[in-house]
Amino acid sequence: MQIPIGLLGCGTVGAGVVSLVRRRADRVANMTGLRPVIQKILVRDLHKDRGVHFEHEQLTTSAEDILGDPDIQIVVETIGGIEPARTYILEALARKKHVVTANKDLIALHGPEILQTAAANGVSILFEASVGGAIPLLGPLQENLTANEVTDLKGIINGTTNFILSKMTEEGLDFDEALALAQELGYAEADPSSDVDGLDAARKLVILASIAFHTEVHLSDVRVEGIRHVTASDVRYADEAGYVIKLLADGRDRNGRLSLSVRPTLIPKSHPLAHVSDAFNALFVRGDAAGDLMFFGRGAGRMPTASAVVGDIIALVRNLKLGVVTSWPYALAGSRKPVVDFEDDLYKFYFRLMAADQPGVFAQVAHLFGELRVSMETVLQKRVAGGQAEIVIVSHEIPGKLAHEVATRLRSMPNIAVEAVMPVEPVNE
Ligand SMILES: NC(=O)c1ccc[n+]([C@@H]2O[C@H](COP(=O)([O-])OP(=O)(O)OC[C@H]3O[C@@H](n4cnc5c(N)ncnc54)[C@H](OP(=O)(O)O)[C@@H]3O)[C@@H](O)[C@H]2O)c1
Repeated sequence: MQIPIGLLGCGTVGAGVVSLVRRRADRVANMTGLRPVIQKILVRDLHKDRGVHFEHEQLTTSAEDILGDPDIQIVVETIGGIEPARTYILEALARKKHVVTANKDLIALHGPEILQTAAANGVSILFEASVGGAIPLLGPLQENLTANEVTDLKGIINGTTNFILSKMTEEGLDFDEALALAQELGYAEADPSSDVDGLDAARKLVILASIAFHTEVHLSDVRVEGIRHVTASDVRYADEAGYVIKLLADGRDRNGRLSLSVRPTLIPKSHPLAHVSDAFNALFVRGDAAGDLMFFGRGAGRMPTASAVVGDIIALVRNLKLGVVTSWPYALAGSRKPVVDFEDDLYKFYFRLMAADQPGVFAQVAHLFGELRVSMETVLQKRVAGGQAEIVIVSHEIPGKLAHEVATRLRSMPNIAVEAVMPVEPVNE
């Protein structure tokens, strides 16, 4: 028996989904007796070359041809963005169709509404591809690790920024050069702000944290800082001190209190996340029973993302065979764990200062650190042109708010400019 599928959008991911469903249809039919078939595909342009073959009658520009077709039981959304994707998904769920989406923006911003609509209509919604592309993350967190209290999520979950920071580290490029290269190679969009300002990673952290920590998480719960201000000097000094700089998505659950941030962070070279380069993604998870785990792989691209989408489609076909529905309990409970001020968390901090190259200036800095009882783990001092010296200090662990106070007091000194302040990830907590 055939399971007709409606596909909304057929771009990079959608075209991969079409070809992968065709490749796996026999296997799914052998496994379940049900054969998934892409029946209708919504696009804007009927004549575009999509790199896969279609019967002309499969394509449509009318969403109603899919949403209003009673034979279609599974709808796959690969349009992206908020509208019209949100309206189409809510409409499909209301008409009792199961839904698969790769849309992180939509799930991060409207997840509770969408999950509650699915539950109210007795249908499933799956969105594995929305975080980490091919890497199985949501399934393991929701299913295989469900016996754990997950306390920590640490992820490199934006390929564009990881590519840029990797090129800055490996080839000594500055931010603008590395961004231009990422754009030339298709890793970064013409408007890269969602990636480089950390918003894309923050949206993915919202999805991961809500599932791992069993609570509703909002984008405003995440403290977000991008990588535009990271310089080639920061990357070089971090290297000298034994670290690499990564855009780290960090979620912690401490006895039901959450702290969530996305920010450039110094990672010790001995940490497994330090070796995640280029456009690869990784997620480090700590569970009270499982201990430490790390998931690694391709976070984007046509076939890696299609792998996750089609995995969800096959899960839905199995659900249909068994007559069951996948549920996401956190969204229904309406539970909201409190989010604590990240400023109370303890981290080592990296400070880069530009100071007048005169006797006594470093003593002033050292005096301030002493007065605020912040001890220094590493100090590097380099002479640069124009009577200026660059001073790099890595502190021992201090609360974020104390690092903030150090920076404010340094800024008030006449001969000193604070160029960068970044947290440092511990080797092993
Ligand atoms: N690309 C990746 O590597 C990747 C990785 C993980 C997740 N995702 C997610 O996957 C989703 C799709 O991304 P993508 O890269 O495949 O996007 P894309 O290449 O831009 O494809 C979007 C598709 O949607 C269609 N479309 C756009 N607006 C439409 C509208 N108003 N009505 C009907 N059709 C419309 C387009 O039709 P036309 O072709 O006719 O213009 C196109 O086929 C996004 O949510 C994205 O975040 C992508």
